[in-house]
Amino acid sequence: MATTTTLGLEVLFTREQIAGRVRQMGEQITHDLAGEKLVMIGVLKGAAIFLSDLARSVSVDTTFDFVAVSSYGKSNRTSGAVKLIKDLDEPIEGKNVLIVEDILDTGLTLAYLRKMFLQHHPKSLRIAALLDKPSRRIEQIEADYVGFSIPNLFVIGYGMDFAERYRNLPDICLMPTETA
Ligand code: IMP
Ligand code: MG
Repeated sequence: MATTTTLGLEVLFTREQIAGRVRQMGEQITHDLAGEKLVMIGVLKGAAIFLSDLARSVSVDTTFDFVAVSSYGKSNRTSGAVKLIKDLDEPIEGKNVLIVEDILDTGLTLAYLRKMFLQHHPKSLRIAALLDKPSRRIEQIEADYVGFSIPNLFVIGYGMDFAERYRNLPDICLMPTETA
């Protein structure tokens, strides 16, 4: 039987599973950037909790920045319109950048951000996504670090929302369709 939370939600990844995987991702990033400095750029709001845990699993010299985007026409994804709501605070030219995102879904958001950041000529640009839904991809883009690859399911918790709710759930849960 699947684990359920106090809200009666089905758990896809427990807080322990998430913590273990995030620690491994941090170790890999530390290894790959040994001796370098790093700027982690979190994509608000979904990645805030993931970034806070990932950052503490990385032992290279790290600073944070955040961007916020909104995507138009979720029902009409072919438009692919992504709008920047909050820009970077600091220039990234010549820096090692790691974009930290909750979910790589269609890829529209990360393709937009990657293109925009590359115009600023960072020293390197990598992507860390906690979850990946490869079957949903519209834009050709892959993350350098992926926590878990999942099928086409709608998930909530650990930063991820449904209509802004559930971000504070400690586990990653499935969104029940009947209450959506
Ligand atoms: P993309 O541009 O389609 O790759 O969209 C990625 C964004 O869509 C993520 O950062 C999330 O904000 C949102 N998203 C995609 N799938 C889910 C999900 O299952 N739960 C919550 N948010 C999701
Ligand atoms: Mg997001």
